[in-house]
Amino acid sequence: MESGAVFAGLHPSTTPGSHNLLLGPSRGAVKLLHPAFTEKRLFSIHPHNLQFQKQFHPVSFRNYGNNNVNCVKVDSRASNAVSELADIDWDNLGFGLMHTDYMYIMKCSKDEGFSKGELQRFGNIELSPSSGVLNYGQGLFEGLKAYRKHDGSILLFRPEENATRLREGAERMCMPAPTVEQFLEAVRVTVLANERWIPPAGKGSLYIRPLLMGSGAVLGLAPAPEYTFLIYVSPVGNYFKEGLAPINLIIETEMHRATPGGTGGVKTIGNYAAVLKAQSAAKAKGFSDVLYLDSVHKRYLEEVSSCNVFVVKGNLISTPAIKGTILPGITRKSILDVARSQGFQVEESHVTVDELLEADEVFCTGTAVVVSPVGSITYRDKRVTYGSDGVGRVSQQLYSALTSLQMGLTEDKMGWIVKLK
Ligand SMILES: Cc1ncc(COP(=O)(O)O)c(C=O)c1O
Repeated sequence: MESGAVFAGLHPSTTPGSHNLLLGPSRGAVKLLHPAFTEKRLFSIHPHNLQFQKQFHPVSFRNYGNNNVNCVKVDSRASNAVSELADIDWDNLGFGLMHTDYMYIMKCSKDEGFSKGELQRFGNIELSPSSGVLNYGQGLFEGLKAYRKHDGSILLFRPEENATRLREGAERMCMPAPTVEQFLEAVRVTVLANERWIPPAGKGSLYIRPLLMGSGAVLGLAPAPEYTFLIYVSPVGNYFKEGLAPINLIIETEMHRATPGGTGGVKTIGNYAAVLKAQSAAKAKGFSDVLYLDSVHKRYLEEVSSCNVFVVKGNLISTPAIKGTILPGITRKSILDVARSQGFQVEESHVTVDELLEADEVFCTGTAVVVSPVGSITYRDKRVTYGSDGVGRVSQQLYSALTSLQMGLTEDKMGWIVKLK
């Protein structure tokens, strides 16, 4: 049986081919304008791909299959060309995997740091059946987005925060990690190599998924002898099918996402497999997702399967404090600053279920979900609704402030935006 591709870690995997409908690297006659091919001296070709030892200036080339450009080493200065947009329905993007042109791969052994990576055609990777990631879950992922502005520039939002979080997670999972600089450079070349997949301004974003995994073979329980850092990307629209409409959450009282001393505070892959059961049950009952409680008192809010939660009461915005069991979200951290700058009182504390049920508004934050208003919470068969169907005032205000910043529509006074071109 083949394994299916899954995006965002939180949807049951699908059969192969179900995401293969759009222009992928293996479809013939795909016209590409590769941003890396702007200056001959800026890149070198992998020895196995001699057919590309030619001069490349801003040039389009035809790809008649998988084998034309398997490995392209890209110099850090490469990339200025304008790329055509991929021929897809940009008005109906969801949050699913779409095969793009290139992925980035960098490997190192246990005792070395990462040194040099390369772009490869997007495609399947080979792993030993005995690899650390497959057998012992030695893996981490990250998630960030690139936005295209109307003027053609391409923006990232606080990518160094993802790099730092990956390093912290790697420390917890006994893995070597790329330096912040290596991470940023890898993101940069991957995004620019896939530039034609970045949605037009206002239509969505390019979701960037870095992975770090123990790829070396190991049988007895121990850190893997080899590690792979990989980045792939996919154009995305809204995460929840509700779009910006309020989502409906159910509080899980039996299963827990994380425990004190565990790995809930890092973005390790096992945390996501662990929530699938509760999430699938919730979805089967018509809920959008699950809200978890702390595993000790079963009384304090933790987070949703893939996003942080905020509670609004009057002018006070509260969110559960970071104490090792919830992921320190970059959107969470940014929203705290944005809210503070807009005159709200913000608090990171223990937030009880009672406070949640009595709140004026509730919303979730995350790279994928952005700011997602919560329309209802169900707790032990009791359903509490917020607002009257519309998006709450505070959620709307913070959503607008954050997305305007991320899309480069307002001045970046915080220094959060990284302009790729
Ligand atoms: C468990 C969990 N909590 C919170 C978040 C939000 O984090 P961020 O805002 O950095 O995307 C995510 C998203 O990746 C997540 O997986």
